Amino acid sequence: MGLIMKYKGIIFDLDGVLCHTDRFHYEAWSIIADKLHVHFDEQVNNLLRGVSRMESLDRILRNYTGEPLSDERKIELATEKNENYREKLMDMSPSDLSKEAENVIDYVQKNGIKMAIGSSSKNAKLILDRIGITDRFDAIADGNHITHSKPDPEVFLLAAEMLKLPPSECLVVEDAEAGAEAAEAGGFDCAGLGDANNVETVKYKLAALGDLVDVLSPEV
Ligand code: G6P
Ligand code: MG
Repeated sequence: MGLIMKYKGIIFDLDGVLCHTDRFHYEAWSIIADKLHVHFDEQVNNLLRGVSRMESLDRILRNYTGEPLSDERKIELATEKNENYREKLMDMSPSDLSKEAENVIDYVQKNGIKMAIGSSSKNAKLILDRIGITDRFDAIADGNHITHSKPDPEVFLLAAEMLKLPPSECLVVEDAEAGAEAAEAGGFDCAGLGDANNVETVKYKLAALGDLVDVLSPEV
């Protein structure tokens, strides 16, 4: 009989967890912020982690003091950001998958734990294709499938449903505060990286993604 693992499913956030597209988001939003003469730095960028594109723009606009922007203009700005961001994604290749992420994926798969993506991004599938890991996942729930982005638990609940597992049997891996809050709201245990570890309910505060292997080690 195989070893009994603590979780039957792992739901990975994508940006900032399995790959480092977060710096591309930063660069693409910087261009928009400059255009609007809005202050934008790493701290503001951290508030955008896990948050949908339009909500991200609204958060950037909290520092905006210019002429009011129509909804059409906001959509235009978000579209421009996305075009710029997607250009950067097109430069990604399997060499952008870190050895660490690859090892974690291998470990999870080898131990018979199901794997899903739970990302707010509408570009998740493109990123997974670029880095060559789409086929490693049993389910992909992303920004195209949901109406409420993190901290709402919708994307994680959908991923668990796709894996046919209850939240109590899944572990969410997140780098965003909004994502860690979403995990808690959905009844999931959470392993945190970076900013996510500011959230009190995060069960496993990881220093690096590779530490996930210790968390997952079989129960004795
Ligand atoms: C991820 C990122 C966020 C981003 C969101 C939407 O959750 O952490 O920073 O705003 O996806 O991404 P999208 O690719 O749809 O603009
Ligand atoms: Mg993230």
